[in-house]
Amino acid sequence: MLSFLAAQALKMHCHENLVNYFSCGIILVGFGHLVHHKKAQTAYGRHMPLSQTAKMVPARLAWFLQEMPALLIPLVLMLTSAKTSSVGKYLLLTTFCLHYFQRTFVYSFLTRGQPFPLGVMVAGGFFCLINGLLQGHYLLHCAHFDEEWSFGCRYKMGLMMFYVGMAVNIQSDYILRNLRKPKEVVYKIPAGGLFEYVSGANYLGEIVEWFGYAVATWSLPTLSFAVFSLCFIGPRAHYHHRFYQEKFKEYPRFRKALIPFIF
Ligand SMILES: NC(=O)c1ccc[n+]([C@@H]2O[C@H](COP(=O)([O-])OP(=O)(O)OC[C@H]3O[C@@H](n4cnc5c(N)ncnc54)[C@H](OP(=O)(O)O)[C@@H]3O)[C@@H](O)[C@H]2O)c1
Repeated sequence: MLSFLAAQALKMHCHENLVNYFSCGIILVGFGHLVHHKKAQTAYGRHMPLSQTAKMVPARLAWFLQEMPALLIPLVLMLTSAKTSSVGKYLLLTTFCLHYFQRTFVYSFLTRGQPFPLGVMVAGGFFCLINGLLQGHYLLHCAHFDEEWSFGCRYKMGLMMFYVGMAVNIQSDYILRNLRKPKEVVYKIPAGGLFEYVSGANYLGEIVEWFGYAVATWSLPTLSFAVFSLCFIGPRAHYHHRFYQEKFKEYPRFRKALIPFIF
């Protein structure tokens, strides 16, 4: 199987139209999610119905299996594609993989979340597979970065946004995780870090990350993933915020849902 993939990857062409169709597809799925989930959020975590009948998977296993394809596929592509001299391509794809390494091998093993519905896990895993394929293929077989690119303002600013966003995301996930003792399933008011300003600090970090990545690569596929993330977890921040306001009378009034001081 791997040698077949390797052979295919070595003779890979860009297929620009296909890349554009997939990217637009991801944007449409994001917008579709936004419209469809005006009334209810994807049913995992606190947004699961009380009478849950779906098959459940332990949270650690679910996050591990769901996120793994987004790490594995770009890595396989990187190892099997014809080598190019562009260091920028590898640096950007490694940056993408770094996020998914963290999510697959660190976040997954530390989470204290509730079990995950099997259907949500499969859908998430499928999305990670398509997105990993798109981002890896685009960077390795389509993108052109000349030597000056990595000295340019967009590249540096984008990568800086990515790493700042990633730091906020990891710190916020850490704060959330430590609100619970092992095996406890309760929701408490998060405090510290950007939670002092917004209820969805982990989501804000992740959105900044992917928009930073899109700025650094300046391409439709990476922009499509940033837009998808905004459409998927942006509303989730709003629903989390509403949940806190309804559950806790003492919830800080000053705190917003996703964007400090604004929304
Ligand atoms: N790029 C994307 O499109 C995308 C999509 C989805 C998720 N993500 C990322 O994946 C990570 C997890 O997402 P998520 O939707 O599961 O985040 P979440 O709803 O904020 O939950 C994160 C974890 O903290 C727990 N938790 C949340 N609030 C808590 C509170 N007030 N008290 C105690 N425990 C609390 C949750 O437990 P429960 O599970 O029991 O609620 C869960 O284990 C985030 O970093 C997010 O940015 C990215």
